[in-house]
Amino acid sequence: MNRKYRKTVIAGNWKMNKLPSELKAFAAELKPFVHKPKWCDVGICVPGVMIPAALRAFKDNKVGVGAQDLSAAASGAYTGEVSGAQLADVGTKYVIVGHSERRQYHGETDEMINAKTKAALANKLIPIACVGETLEQREMGITLELITLQVKTILSGIPAEQMRKVIIAYEPVWAIGTGKTATAEQAGEVCTHIRAVIRKLYGARVARSVTIQYGGSMNGKNAMELLAQPDIDGGLVGGASLKPEEFAQIIHAANQD
Ligand code: 13P
Repeated sequence: MNRKYRKTVIAGNWKMNKLPSELKAFAAELKPFVHKPKWCDVGICVPGVMIPAALRAFKDNKVGVGAQDLSAAASGAYTGEVSGAQLADVGTKYVIVGHSERRQYHGETDEMINAKTKAALANKLIPIACVGETLEQREMGITLELITLQVKTILSGIPAEQMRKVIIAYEPVWAIGTGKTATAEQAGEVCTHIRAVIRKLYGARVARSVTIQYGGSMNGKNAMELLAQPDIDGGLVGGASLKPEEFAQIIHAANQD
């Protein structure tokens, strides 16, 4: 983390878990831990249908509500899709784009993720754009090249003043939901590399202002060590964000003086 230059953001990704009717109890349990997080912003990204209930439940909690995907198109004949304008209109703050599960199960490419990132920014949503390598790619020794390509393609055509609003999440695919966390050094190395790529594209001032999260089996025990890396400015948290106490531990780790 480097709080002098950029925000620390802890975001939960609930994926396709929980019911709208469970939100109130979850928010009440989380509340004592998040009533005023001093050093970090907290968000929870829920399935689209749960956004209005999440906004009500987290109203007094300082928790920003996020979506997990949006359409690249502005409006029109796209059955089943949800637009950035619709998300913004109900009060959504964040939107995850390019999660590896969207890449894997819905064939999303870096080009599509670029278009979605732009759609989010056009509607004043904060995109959390995901990049990450598979185990096979890591073992082939091409992690950094792959990440460079992903970051460059996803950010293509995004001007510097908008870049400051983009959050990048480094999520090694092999660490997602597996209980296998990247070591703090492995995660830190890639996040430092991502910042170097942004520096080449946008210059040093923009690069140091961008929040870069780590995601992949982050939990209450390993969060502190991961967040101690200079270029890891938060977490995108799956499984551990479903349990209020565990999620609170991660927020606590980000909130240390
Ligand atoms: P886990 O924390 O469950 O590994 O999930 C990470 C993730 O995919 C967050 O987007």
